[in-house]
Amino acid sequence: MITIALAKGRLADHALDLLEKIGIDCKQLRGKSRKLIFTTNNDSIRFIMVKPSDVPAYVEYGTADIGIAGKDTLLEEARPLYEMLDLKFGACRLAVAGYADRKSAGITNSQTRVATKYPNITRNYFASKGENVEIVKLNGSVELGPLTGLSDVIVDIVESGRTLVENGLVVLEEICPISARLVVNQVSLKTKHDEIKKIIKGLRELLEGEEYDSRN
Ligand code: PRP
Repeated sequence: MITIALAKGRLADHALDLLEKIGIDCKQLRGKSRKLIFTTNNDSIRFIMVKPSDVPAYVEYGTADIGIAGKDTLLEEARPLYEMLDLKFGACRLAVAGYADRKSAGITNSQTRVATKYPNITRNYFASKGENVEIVKLNGSVELGPLTGLSDVIVDIVESGRTLVENGLVVLEEICPISARLVVNQVSLKTKHDEIKKIIKGLRELLEGEEYDSRN
């Protein structure tokens, strides 16, 4: 049995679209059910629906053999997993954002306070620039940081950019691009090699085909 941990929320529908295209029936997962474990048409594949930031933990401990999560979550959790595929959907970027006038006087320094859902990424990013900033961990609506004076800037994901625009903020620095990734438990890759490789091969061929179509 292969268990796949799927991040609930904005990545789930795209992930299900891809898995259906390689022949895994995901109908049950598309309804409004509050169930958390789902079987499929394939007796050897089941899904667990987890909070996005918990996907790496389920995969590290082998409760799930495979996980689908955003690169942001993987960077933040930094757990020992094999990242096997860039699934391309959920594309966005991690950025430092704030009021545009910070651009004129140097965006950050060691006195800067940064609000973020990603304290580890933020610490590492500023440490790599030699800045030891103060970090305030928030769980959502991070843009409120500069608006309320809680923080000077934020580190957050920017997708369409609408949230920043509607709150009078701008991207000050790009940190890195983000997209959904498929990760695998390190032991499962050996003990369930054939089953896992079959899923990865199917997805890889599908993605390469879509890329080919979009170029032609
Ligand atoms: C995310 C992120 C930004 C917004 C970016 O928040 O933290 O706030 O989406 O998207 P945009 O560039 O398309 O506007 P999410 O919607 O997950 O809600 P949250 O603030 O509660 O975390």
